[in-house]
Amino acid sequence: MVGDPELKRQIREAAESEERSNYERRFPEEWLAALEPFGTDWHKPFLEAAPWLIVVFRIDYGVEGARKLKHYYVSESVGIATGFLLAALHAAGLATLTHTPSPMGFLSRLLDRPANERPFLLIPAGYPAAECEVPDIPKKRLEDVLIVR
Ligand SMILES: Cc1cc2nc3c(=O)[nH]c(=O)nc-3n(C[C@H](O)[C@H](O)[C@H](O)COP(=O)(O)O)c2cc1C
Repeated sequence: MVGDPELKRQIREAAESEERSNYERRFPEEWLAALEPFGTDWHKPFLEAAPWLIVVFRIDYGVEGARKLKHYYVSESVGIATGFLLAALHAAGLATLTHTPSPMGFLSRLLDRPANERPFLLIPAGYPAAECEVPDIPKKRLEDVLIVR
C-alpha cells in the first residue's frame, strides 16, 4: 500500500508513460473506440490524488533457499481475494478504481519486489470527491449470464 506522495508521483509518471504508448500506438482502433464513451486517456491524475494506492501482487511461486515452491490456483485465489477487498472497501464507503496500466512491470521496479511476485492490480482508494460523477454502465441481466439446468 503506497501513501508516500513522492512514490505515488513516480508510479503516476511510469503508468502514464505506458498508457501514453497504449493510447498513441499500442491500442488497436477497436479498443480505442470501446474506451471512447468513458473519455479516458493516458492522463492518470488519480494516481496522485488518491490518498492510497493498493498494489496487489500475485506470488507465482514460493522461494525456499535455492528451491522454487509451486503455488496452485494463483489467478483464482488472487482474483477472489481482490474481489473481497474491493467489496469491503466499498462497504466502508470508500471509492476504488480497478486499474491495469499495462504492462505493469514498473511496479515491481519502483516497489522493489522480488521476481516471484508479479503486479496484478493497482487500486487507488479513498473517499470519493464531492463533485465526482459515476458512469452509469449497464450490466448484463442475470438471465443473460446464469444458465440453470
Ligand atoms: C480487471 C480490470 C481492469 C481494469 N483496468 C482499467 C484501467 O486500467 N483503466 C480504467 O480506466 N479502467 C479499468 N477498468 C474498468 C474500471 O475499473 C471499472 O471496472 C469500470 O469503470 C466499471 O465499473 P463498475 O464495474 O464498478 O461499474 C478495469 C476493470 C477491470 C475489471
